[in-house]
Amino acid sequence: SDIYRAGISGTRPRVPVDTDALEAAARKALSAEAFAYIAGGAGAERTVAANRAAFGRWQVWPRPLRDVSSRDLSVDFLGVRRPTPLLLAPLGVMEMAHADADLAVARAAASLGVPYTLSNQASFPMEAVADAAPGGSRLFQLYWSASDDLNASLLRRAEASGCEGVVVTLDTHLLGWRTRDLDLAYLPFTRAMGIAQYTSDPVFQQLVRERSRGGTDASTPPPPVKVTPKAVAAGVRIARKGAALTGTSSVRENLRSPLPRAAVETFLDVFSTPALTWDDLAKARQWTSLPIILKGIVHPDDAIRALDAGVDGIWISNHGGRQIDQSVPTLEVLPTIAERVAGRVPIVFDSGVRQGSDVFIALALGATTVALGRPYSYGLGIAGGAGVREVVRNVLAELDITLGLSGHTSIAEVGRGALREV
Ligand code: FNR
Repeated sequence: SDIYRAGISGTRPRVPVDTDALEAAARKALSAEAFAYIAGGAGAERTVAANRAAFGRWQVWPRPLRDVSSRDLSVDFLGVRRPTPLLLAPLGVMEMAHADADLAVARAAASLGVPYTLSNQASFPMEAVADAAPGGSRLFQLYWSASDDLNASLLRRAEASGCEGVVVTLDTHLLGWRTRDLDLAYLPFTRAMGIAQYTSDPVFQQLVRERSRGGTDASTPPPPVKVTPKAVAAGVRIARKGAALTGTSSVRENLRSPLPRAAVETFLDVFSTPALTWDDLAKARQWTSLPIILKGIVHPDDAIRALDAGVDGIWISNHGGRQIDQSVPTLEVLPTIAERVAGRVPIVFDSGVRQGSDVFIALALGATTVALGRPYSYGLGIAGGAGVREVVRNVLAELDITLGLSGHTSIAEVGRGALREV
């Protein structure tokens, strides 16, 4: 009702409420490269379209006359009661959208009580993000590096900087065939963007030194365990420099990387490993005592395998259609996976969520909590942290209205009976 009241009093929204208009406004606000990177998907982008189309197969039943004057959006997630069933998905390289990138997103998320999943490819070191929004709830998303020492170090830092959980993303052991980026001959990471987690990390710095010297040197002392404030400050400086070079102008101007070549090469070496298997996952348990969630589960058998591996949550995602063209749309497998998981661990759902009614449908089909991806980055690009806040509030407001109009007063009441299959 705050949002309607603001409208009545003549306060114009900063970001378009309509989701297509939001994307169009972001296209205008961002450089061609930034928009292509964010909006783009794999191949002919059929998965991106299918993710959206899947929502069209479900309809919400209106149920009046059920006193819905007080409504509660809260859910339990990772042992904590959260005010809303929403989460922000990890989005890397947000310096492309706004110079304050993850710092602004973290503040906006914290102001709404929405947990923020900080990307492994975030633009600012996780310690700087923690400082920017001290009261906020954060998870850290890990891309499993080819260097186990680096994985261990990143997870140690996540724990030390107050993250509540670790999200291991499993669908990016190879980078997808990103048509728009290929056409623009553009990959942000090679411009040293989105690699602040690494540049601020003592293990990574050690790997860079070894590479510059042309190999491992057994006599080199092991790196310090603690991340120094100096290293974090250096990470922030590099991120700012990257953002200044990008801005909202063409990133083609950003031909000179703010990092030495050895660091960029090291990043490309360690970024991920296609050799990763289920057996390796056990190592994560040694590296951290935080809850572990596997992101990128789409096959029901993998959901069961994840349970067998003893993880604390699964995150159904096809990376917003950025990895495989003509991949399985996530909403289509959500009911089966939810049935097989049977409440044993929480299920996070993403890919294709654009508005509150989408969140409602995913919750009705068995998601514990729903992650928002591209839309908040559009808000960030258009109006910084205030834009993120507004996008998230709009999603929550529509969810609340849908909850009430379908005759429910809490998320726990919402189940399959709330929907009609088309
Ligand atoms: C992503 N995604 C992602 N996932 C992840 O685990 N780590 C990351 O660093 C990123 N980076 C990233 C950047 C950008 C620009 C996008 C659009 C996506 C995937 C993300 O977490 C989420 O799964 C998708 O965004 C969900 O799809 P929709 O809702 O955006 O279509």
